[in-house]
Amino acid sequence: MNADAEFEIFLAVPPGLEDALRAEAAERGFTQAAAGPGGVTIRGGWPAVWRANLEIRGASHVLARIGDFRAHHLAQLDKRARRLPWADFLRRDVAFRVEATCRNSRIYHSGAAAQRIERAIAEELGAVPADDAEVCVKARIEDDLCTISIDTSGDPLHKRGHKEAVNKAPMRENLAALFLRQCGYDGQEPVLDPMCGSGTFVIEAAEIAAGLKPGRTRRFALEQLATFDEGAWRAMRDVPAARTSPAFRFHGSDRDAGAIAMARANAARAGVEALTDFRQHAISDLARPDGPPGLVIINPPYGGRLGDKKKLNPLYRALGQTLAGRFAGWRVGLITNDAGLARATGLPFDEPAAPVSHGGLRVTLYRTGALA
Ligand SMILES: C[S@@+](CC[C@H](N)C(=O)[O-])C[C@H]1O[C@@H](n2cnc3c(N)ncnc32)[C@H](O)[C@@H]1O
Repeated sequence: MNADAEFEIFLAVPPGLEDALRAEAAERGFTQAAAGPGGVTIRGGWPAVWRANLEIRGASHVLARIGDFRAHHLAQLDKRARRLPWADFLRRDVAFRVEATCRNSRIYHSGAAAQRIERAIAEELGAVPADDAEVCVKARIEDDLCTISIDTSGDPLHKRGHKEAVNKAPMRENLAALFLRQCGYDGQEPVLDPMCGSGTFVIEAAEIAAGLKPGRTRRFALEQLATFDEGAWRAMRDVPAARTSPAFRFHGSDRDAGAIAMARANAARAGVEALTDFRQHAISDLARPDGPPGLVIINPPYGGRLGDKKKLNPLYRALGQTLAGRFAGWRVGLITNDAGLARATGLPFDEPAAPVSHGGLRVTLYRTGALA
């Protein structure tokens, strides 16, 4: 492949968040961003792949599309897979693995399809397949068309690399970033999470305000590919962020002392300690911070996961009363898996956003305008 060649790059995201991710990609200057089921396609070369991994907060993986061909049976899949220029992308000295999915196709056995492609790569390139390889080739066979991509992220992108401690039901960072975006947050106002757990929303919001790149401290599978240019990558990664120092703070509280300790440690590792303020107390003791109004964002305990829905009704009601009574001028974003619990808050929510799959649950973001 010509070094300047452009190809399709797929930014994967849980269904329901595609439009929010498309808006983020467009804002970050990626061209031809188009939303489709389960993700957003953009176009670019390898530097765009690196930058997407480094800078996009909302994606869960960045896939580079390296080829496609028709395959009506396994022998044809094997033959055509062998023709791809594997040495342009993969390294002979780096282990790889293959994952396949089949839909509406004559080839229906995804395990057999993955095995054929794996053998084709191993024999043509001389690299060794391994189940735990960081480099993963993905084959999607749909309507007899096989599309081959490389997952250039490796570990999912919600793992920012500077968060070690998590509590029972952490929000994934990429979802947190997109929910913040869907609440209209752009880094220019304070954010408060009164059930902050390990601090995900507060830390994401502070990083956004400080102009930090989400991938600045982690490694990526792209570093193991033949297309990797370490010098160019470092130059891109190590450009100092146009760091701004917001005049307001990002607040988290939780009744659980362990959660607060985790949140503080996570904020310190992320380098946003000075922008954040975590306190241990229950929602009933929540006070409105001094300064301008902003966004309250919360994911309270979910029904059916951390507790029984009936028991949770009073908690949601108390939360709603506290916010309605003390947070005039602030907007609220609430993420829950139960419309009844959202209603129990009594808050004046607009039409909910599309539901999103998260940890085996379908969660929905409910938003208010500025509270009266
Ligand atoms: C679903 S978790 C939030 C997870 C968090 N967003 C994260 O990413 O780690 C709900 C949190 O609400 C806290 N919580 C439950 N009842 C509370 C109350 N009455 N006051 C304050 N916090 C409470 C729990 O301790 C728990 O950390």
